[in-house]
Amino acid sequence: MIILEAKDITAGYTTEVNILYNVSIHVKSGKIVSVIGPNGAGKSTLLKTIFGILKPTSGSVTLKDEDITALKPDKVAKKGISYVPQVDNVFPSLTIQENLEMGAFIRSDDFSQRIDEIFELFPVLGERRKQKAGQLSGGQRQMVAMGRALMLDPQVLLLDEPSAGLSPILVASIFEKIIEINKTGVAMIIVEQNAREALKMADHGYVLAMGKNVLDDTGESLLANEEVGRLYLGG
Ligand SMILES: Nc1ncnc2c1ncn2[C@@H]1O[C@H](COP(=O)(O)OP(=O)(O)OP(=O)(O)O)[C@@H](O)[C@H]1O
Ligand SMILES: [Mg+2]
Repeated sequence: MIILEAKDITAGYTTEVNILYNVSIHVKSGKIVSVIGPNGAGKSTLLKTIFGILKPTSGSVTLKDEDITALKPDKVAKKGISYVPQVDNVFPSLTIQENLEMGAFIRSDDFSQRIDEIFELFPVLGERRKQKAGQLSGGQRQMVAMGRALMLDPQVLLLDEPSAGLSPILVASIFEKIIEINKTGVAMIIVEQNAREALKMADHGYVLAMGKNVLDDTGESLLANEEVGRLYLGG
């Protein structure tokens, strides 16, 4: 079953210039979709549009048959989509614990159990819960950002470059965490520079270039595709 679908999205940051042209992407319940493509392709712009930060000029975003195209980010979050931006994704002057609490800002119920679950997923964060996020390593900060996004118990998680700037060992451990989160039933759209690894864990992959859909197929088929390898996976 398709849980989230962006259809024929045309969008940009100003009314004159569009960045995305008729881009379509969807993810099925509990599956992982990876989006790859060169710098400036519009990958981050696509996630921002899905999350309601940008309003598309045309096209639609549908969550489980409900049109959410016109909703603002707080409303989109309430519907069950969480988003981890590419940059500035934690509050550096707040502690780890406070960052997680901020992630629950639209929850009115008791979320202490959810915080415990996130500390189980990322034990290193639990040990440092009173430490300011700004003092953490890049990998730990990324875990805080993901933990914050998980506070709302989303059905779909949008991750923009979760492995950016991390050492190879940390990249592997972040990807392991992503798979662990996915196994709890959360569908994901992951934008990644680390395209080969991203396609390995993806059920389905999309290639974007210059604001357009170039190709989409199973992660496996894209990895085996000679042209994709040469153009987008560094040979
Ligand atoms: N806030 C903004 N205002 C105006 N233009 C923007 C803004 N953010 C991005 N752009 C432009 O939109 C285009 C697509 O950018 P986007 O960040 O979506 O690409 P990307 O595929 O995520 O690239 P990268 O791999 O470098 O993260 C680029 O030409 C970029 O300059
Ligand atoms: Mg980007």
